[in-house]
Amino acid sequence: MNAYVGTPTSRVDGRAKVTGAAKYAGEFAADHLLHGFVVAATIPRGRIARLDTSEALKVKGVVDVLTHAHRPPLADKDDAWKDEVAPEKGSPFRPLYDDRIKFNGQPIALVVAEDWETAKFAATLVRVEYEQEAFATDLESERGKAAKVDQPHKPRGDAPAALTRAAVRLEADYVIPSEHHNPMELYATTAVWDGNGSITVYDKTQGVQNVQKFLCSVFGKKPDDIRVLSPYVGGAFGSGLRPQHQVVLATLGALALKRSVRVVLTRQQMYSLGYRPMTIEHVALGAKPDGTLDAVSHEAIAVTSRFEDFSRNDTGWAEQLYKSPNSRLSHKLVHLDVATPCDMRAPGAASGVCALECAMDELAVALKLDPIELRLKCYSDRDQSEDLPYTSKRLRECYARGAEAFGWGRRNPAPRSMRDGKELVGWGMATGVWEALQMPVAARIVLTANGHAEVSCAASDIGTGTYTIVAQVAADALGLPIDNISVRLADSTLPQAPVEGGSWMAASSAHAVLGAAEDIRQELARLAKAMPGSPLADPVNVTLVDGMIASNGAAVSIADVMRHSKVERIEKQKLNQFVEDKSYARNTHSAVFAEVKVDEELGVIRVTRVVSAVAAGRILNTKTGRSQIMGGVVWGIGMALHEETVMDHRFGRIMNANIAEYHIPVNADVHDIDVIFVDEPDERINRLGVKGLGEIGIVGVPAAIANAVYHATGKRIRRFPITLDKLID
Ligand code: MOS
Repeated sequence: MNAYVGTPTSRVDGRAKVTGAAKYAGEFAADHLLHGFVVAATIPRGRIARLDTSEALKVKGVVDVLTHAHRPPLADKDDAWKDEVAPEKGSPFRPLYDDRIKFNGQPIALVVAEDWETAKFAATLVRVEYEQEAFATDLESERGKAAKVDQPHKPRGDAPAALTRAAVRLEADYVIPSEHHNPMELYATTAVWDGNGSITVYDKTQGVQNVQKFLCSVFGKKPDDIRVLSPYVGGAFGSGLRPQHQVVLATLGALALKRSVRVVLTRQQMYSLGYRPMTIEHVALGAKPDGTLDAVSHEAIAVTSRFEDFSRNDTGWAEQLYKSPNSRLSHKLVHLDVATPCDMRAPGAASGVCALECAMDELAVALKLDPIELRLKCYSDRDQSEDLPYTSKRLRECYARGAEAFGWGRRNPAPRSMRDGKELVGWGMATGVWEALQMPVAARIVLTANGHAEVSCAASDIGTGTYTIVAQVAADALGLPIDNISVRLADSTLPQAPVEGGSWMAASSAHAVLGAAEDIRQELARLAKAMPGSPLADPVNVTLVDGMIASNGAAVSIADVMRHSKVERIEKQKLNQFVEDKSYARNTHSAVFAEVKVDEELGVIRVTRVVSAVAAGRILNTKTGRSQIMGGVVWGIGMALHEETVMDHRFGRIMNANIAEYHIPVNADVHDIDVIFVDEPDERINRLGVKGLGEIGIVGVPAAIANAVYHATGKRIRRFPITLDKLID
């Protein structure tokens, strides 16, 4: 039955991507296409006193300069600017709306010209005078203003009292800097003016229907007026969950000028979009001498903008991982004059679990326990926040399989005890955890008499492999070779899908496809039964396999059934339906092991080996799945050692808004990565037993590396990234 599901199937879109046939948002052509270039604010807070576009307008080829004072109408109610993942509390940012400046880099004008170079040049001629106001951008100096936000954490027991009496107590601040996503593809939109007032928008986004609804409400358009497509996405990692400035600006330009307009942000301008918020993670653990926990306290203090409360679950993860009778968790926000943060791969968990897993390592050292032994002593089989069992949780197997593959048994626990020539060697480990979510998604399948099926859905493939798993599930369910399946995604006119995020799209899209395929099968069974002299006169237990419809040992080809029935095509659309049993918790888990080699004199750190053992239900595609985890590990290396958005607080401006100075891992930073999928059957979570892999790969990696650095050097660095200056200090 499963010719493709569960196998290492190559990407069905791989050829299009490597040959350049795959088109990205900024590559779509249109007649008489205009190019917009963004003019960005250079102060963090205040108002525009004067905006002089006259010199820019004199440049040959410039068609117009749109500003808050010169533009088509925009919605004025906050609700109209809220997209499906906007923070509940706040007033979303509106490009070119009024004279207010809310963050440095905010778009304040769009120069539109016949070509990009002209627009870019003319943008330098736009003159702006500001009335600047007092501002603050530094989380650490403003920490005292942190205000608690509502999160669904209920305190259990009395953590402060338990911490006071704890035999062994560990308490520390871990500082995670703000980070930017830096996807390879620049943010881009080509808004094609169709001539009759409607617009086709090619946008870089993780959710075409989210963008379509957003644009309609912002511009007061009817659903048919705006169609959004995003067939390929060159990485997004959360930055494309919310509609970004460029899609508003390109659409605004097209409406203003009644021509097609493309806006591509520069790499520097992408730093004006959302980011992983800087957090100070304050963790306190109280343990008994035997290594069981008596208290967990975790408070996260995070940056947000003045105009929106963005917060994520940084602190809830200890409730999933470690048994403790007393627990207190809280999340606080500091409002600063910066852009609103946004989701970035495993939002909340990547930061919060980093702190928790470093703290657990420090506790293991204090208790003189092996880090895995400590985690097994504290292992929780239940989600303590709701006191629920899991649909499945094979984290113990992750520890065992990962440790074995890594060779953890050969570790000398003493820091600075292992060497390789001039280099100190450190081995560290940590746990990863993420949610296993599923969302309403619909899919349509059109089966034609030539034995070909087209599967379509509005979901995006953000590089995660959605095209491929959709094709795999359809091929298996329809009994067709995968080459006979074509997949259309990321067009707002296709069956419904939410943004692709939260690691929910694999399970969600797979079950939509499965449902539609089953309806096709039933229809084929009905047609087969009606054929004169049918070998399937009484079809029970009907299966589709190898192009045949089979029942009780009899079979007839799908093509014959359709031909005899004079049916050219069978079309079925289905919304997935998950019956979620609320008496179970749903998570994915991992155990991450890292080896670092540290040059003792120079402080240079190399992550020479990582083993990630992941339990995430059934893996639909072991090839793209492995790639997902490897990508997550590389992100974890970046988070541990490289990535940091640096702000000059005197100007409230990002100083390293480019990938020369914002460091991300390059090939030379990435060595051996071993991915192990722990077999985790799960009949409760959904029919296919799928949990999703998009985010679990990063969680735990930064802590495993930080713990390895401690083991190598005896230095505990709690301020990320761990750069060499901190080691030789
Ligand atoms: Mo993900 S951070 O939900 O794209």
